[in-house]
Amino acid sequence: MHRHKVVVFGAGGVGKSALITRFVKGNFLSNYDPTIEEVYECTSQIDGTTFSLEILDTAGADQFCAPQERYIKSAHGFILVFSLTQETSLREIEDLRQRIYHLRGDNRPIPLVVVGTKLDLTTEREVPQELIRRYAVRWGVPFYETSAKRNWNVRPSFEDLVRQMRTR
Ligand code: GTP
Ligand code: MG
Repeated sequence: MHRHKVVVFGAGGVGKSALITRFVKGNFLSNYDPTIEEVYECTSQIDGTTFSLEILDTAGADQFCAPQERYIKSAHGFILVFSLTQETSLREIEDLRQRIYHLRGDNRPIPLVVVGTKLDLTTEREVPQELIRRYAVRWGVPFYETSAKRNWNVRPSFEDLVRQMRTR
């Protein structure tokens, strides 16, 4: 069985834990309880093959602390999370992405997806689709617009990452 280590990064409160919980446990985490660090494990099937994931949920604060470097070096894939309701959280992804590429070097492709959360909060949306399209083209990575609350697009974003990790 394939076993993949995934790290989830993003600013505080953007919905990392809710996204992971939706994928792993199938329910919505409505309370905000800031994460220190947590590991989730799950086994599932994609394209008829069983895989297992070890998903590391990180703290939104202290993006540039020492453990982060260790995670980046040992992970097989990355989910970079921002909130569609907070444009500054997308800027933070930019820094994270650069840090990942810097630490890993450019010799082989890095499995990565970018996930915009809280798609259901339409009246609070701050990040236009056009901006996302520009980032997606510039970075050459898949972007997903999701809602953990409504269970929109959560599984497809994880599946995309698993498919990328599989071919590496
Ligand atoms: P840290 O652990 O502090 O980094 O935060 P986090 O990124 O893990 O955020 P968390 O998943 O705890 O979510 C923060 C708040 O946003 C919680 O109250 C969630 O219920 C809410 N939230 C997360 N995803 C969604 C979503 O898709 N829709 C809505 N409406 N709320 C969401
Ligand atoms: Mg969290």
